[in-house]
Amino acid sequence: MTDREKLLYKMVWQLVSLLVLLLVIVIVLTFLLFFGVPEMTQSKVKMQVMDTVSIKENLSKKYWQAPDISLESDPEIKYGKELIANTSVYLGPSGKVMKISNGMNCQNCHPEAGTKIFGNNYSAVAATYPKFRARSGTEESLFKRINDCIERSLNGVALDNNNREMKAMIAYINWLGKTVPKNESPAGAGLMELNYLSRPADPIAGKKFYLVKCLVCHQEKGEGFPNNDKSGYIYPPLWGKNSYTIGAGLYRLSRFAGYIKANMPLGASHDNPQLTDEEAWDIAAYVNSQPRPQKDISKDWPDISKKPIDHPFGPFSDSFDEKQHKFGPYLDIVHFKNTSSKAKL
Ligand code: HEC
Ligand code: HEC
Repeated sequence: MTDREKLLYKMVWQLVSLLVLLLVIVIVLTFLLFFGVPEMTQSKVKMQVMDTVSIKENLSKKYWQAPDISLESDPEIKYGKELIANTSVYLGPSGKVMKISNGMNCQNCHPEAGTKIFGNNYSAVAATYPKFRARSGTEESLFKRINDCIERSLNGVALDNNNREMKAMIAYINWLGKTVPKNESPAGAGLMELNYLSRPADPIAGKKFYLVKCLVCHQEKGEGFPNNDKSGYIYPPLWGKNSYTIGAGLYRLSRFAGYIKANMPLGASHDNPQLTDEEAWDIAAYVNSQPRPQKDISKDWPDISKKPIDHPFGPFSDSFDEKQHKFGPYLDIVHFKNTSSKAKL
């Protein structure tokens, strides 16, 4: 080959290589356009946050929707909603109607007046009450269930049957769930159920997350932040004398973790969670290790085999101690319950 031929050969070769490279780029780009960025390259944190959410999302595409209160004219239903949203104005320590509760609002734990998806909403209540509840071992009316939250979560005094405020709250909650078929629980009802961790929930790790993600509103000692005239809270307390009692649902780690996963920090939702499952469990362990009001719960769960696995007070029908029932790991307990109930069959 002459030098000229060699040069020509080299140029052709470079041109071909360039074309092949271009072709590869075009193919890769087309692939990405149609199939998206492979999951491997997405941030690990985002995937962790999404874990339970995407499972739930696939299971139930169509969530419950609350009826529109602005189209409702019944004053009792409207008053019921007002009481759920601003409970302390009427029933708090300086309440207009009565002074029977701790300054929290029902809405603090049942956001958007009990209508938010996975916000501990009331969608299933009208359709499922009265119902048997193992905590009391009796058939419970909605009246009894509301008083439960007043006594345990609002650390208050139960209202009586013909109390005007009680009747209005019942009317509102029944109105919310009026289109739900009897005994059904709509998609997105109540709280999110998180996967169990394979280790105990860790209050020390939880404290670190709390300082970064919760303290700004709920304050260093969990005491919350009162409104101007101190009649209630802008940011409700998470522990201390004005918070929920040890007999409240939120005192169980699974209820607390499920609540904050889909609702906290403020602005979070089931489809836009701000905490990983691990953070939610660890924060639950931290907050529920702090001091809070007592409650006589000695008559709860008369059939001890019906206690939820994360109920932290013995006696139990298994050999796991109070610490493991409180913090986990729960899978050992679940496994024990499954095998012992099978043995009985
Ligand atoms: C400190 C938090 C908190 C406050 C405040 C609170 N609740 Fe609750 N409430 C809960 C939790 C937790 C549950 C149980 C959720 C579960 O077990 O899945 C619950 C359950 C309920 C239920 C039963 C829901 C169902 O689907 O079975 C009703 C009804 C209810 N609350 C009404 C009220 C009313 C009315 C008020 C105000 C007077 C109130 N709650 C205040 C935390 C709270
Ligand atoms: C930007 C302020 C803000 C931040 C940050 C925040 N919260 Fe809240 N939190 C609120 C408000 C406001 C409510 C009451 C919501 C309502 O009434 O609709 C609330 C309610 C709650 C409740 C139920 C009521 C109670 O007092 O027990 C819990 C539990 C809770 N938050 C936990 C947390 C945790 C845990 C974090 C951190 C992961 C957090 N919050 C971060 C503002 C905040």
